[in-house]
Amino acid sequence: MKLFVDSGSLKDIESLAALGIIDGATTNPSLLAKEQKDPREILKEICRLVQGPVSGEVVATKADDMVREGREIAKIDQHMVVKVPFTRDGVRACRTLASEGIKVNVTLIFSATQALLAAKVGAAYVSPFVGRLDDIATDGMHLIEEIVEIFDNYEFPTQVLVASVRHPIHIVQAARLGADVCTCPPAVLDQCFKHPLTDIGLEKFLKDWEKAQTAKV
Ligand code: E4P
Repeated sequence: MKLFVDSGSLKDIESLAALGIIDGATTNPSLLAKEQKDPREILKEICRLVQGPVSGEVVATKADDMVREGREIAKIDQHMVVKVPFTRDGVRACRTLASEGIKVNVTLIFSATQALLAAKVGAAYVSPFVGRLDDIATDGMHLIEEIVEIFDNYEFPTQVLVASVRHPIHIVQAARLGADVCTCPPAVLDQCFKHPLTDIGLEKFLKDWEKAQTAKV
């Protein structure tokens, strides 16, 4: 399973990319609005840092405008993926952009039928939001299971990109279900590095080693 970072923070993305664990990145208008820099510049810089697919979202709501904006986003860098929301206009825009060879990520997916329709118009990725479903007492991961099964049944090339990830258990569940990608906020990736037994174990190894060196002198 590929791991993407879900952020517009160049500082966070740079430190995670340096570890070699990041395959790509996703952004959305809310994430980019938090940053001070020009969004196009941020996206360009993210592409340079991750050297993999980077989703940048359109803010237009009419299909023709989405297509125009999507083409501009795609020009930012060869790694850019155009994110469009799952609306009727978004589906039409996806079809056009995909037919031009532009990779599209259909976002704000909350049902298997939405994912199926996005796959039918050539989406490279669908982004089901698991955390936001969990927030309303609906099992987000059940949706991932359904979409993975449907795409496997019909061999859709569309990748299932698990979004709205809130904690490391979402990452484990996504991987067990065979999702293609899991996009995670930096804080969730940081949590994956923490385990008290690792810290205690390392401390003991180093202490034992030090003790042995002192005894040998
Ligand atoms: C996905 O691409 C979205 O940017 C993101 O995962 C949304 O997450 P949120 O529900 O935490 O805002």
